[in-house]
Amino acid sequence: MNYDNALNQIEKILSKNPSNFLQKIVDFLCDNFEKYNWVGIYTVKRDNLILGPWKGPKATEHTRIPIGKGICGAAAETGKTEIIKDVKEDNRYLSCFLSTKSEIVVPIRKNGIIIGEIDIDSDKKDAFTNQDKIFLEKIVDMLSEHI
Ligand code: SME
Repeated sequence: MNYDNALNQIEKILSKNPSNFLQKIVDFLCDNFEKYNWVGIYTVKRDNLILGPWKGPKATEHTRIPIGKGICGAAAETGKTEIIKDVKEDNRYLSCFLSTKSEIVVPIRKNGIIIGEIDIDSDKKDAFTNQDKIFLEKIVDMLSEHI
C-alpha cells in the first residue's frame, strides 16, 4: 500500500474514535506493509516503557524496557527516531526475534513530552527508508491527538 493511501485510511480509523484505536493502528500497519513484520506500541510509565498493543508472529519478552536501554529506550530518551539498518551492528539492540534484521522506533510526543513510541521490526535488512520515517512520524502526531 502507498503511504498517502495509508495515511488517509488511518485518518478514517481515528475519526471513528474507536476505544481500541492503538490496537487498530498497529494491526493496520502490520497487515498492510509486508516489511513491517512486528509492530508494537510502548507507553512511558515513570522510568520504563511498557508494551501495549502489538501485532506480529510472536510475543516479545521485552514487555518492560527501562528508558535509556535498547533501541527503544534510546529513542524514548532522546526523542529522536531511530533507524537501525542492521540490528547485528548495533550493540544497544535488545534481541526479540531471531528473524529481525532491521528496526525503526518513532517516539510519540504530547505537549512536548515523550509519552510512548511505535516500534517496528523487519525481517528484511535495511528495510526502513526516510519515507517510512516521515510516514510514521505523521502517524504518531495523529495518534497523540487521540491519546
Ligand atoms: N529491539 C528493541 C526491543 C523491543 S523488540 O524489538 C519488540 C530494542 O532494542 O529496544
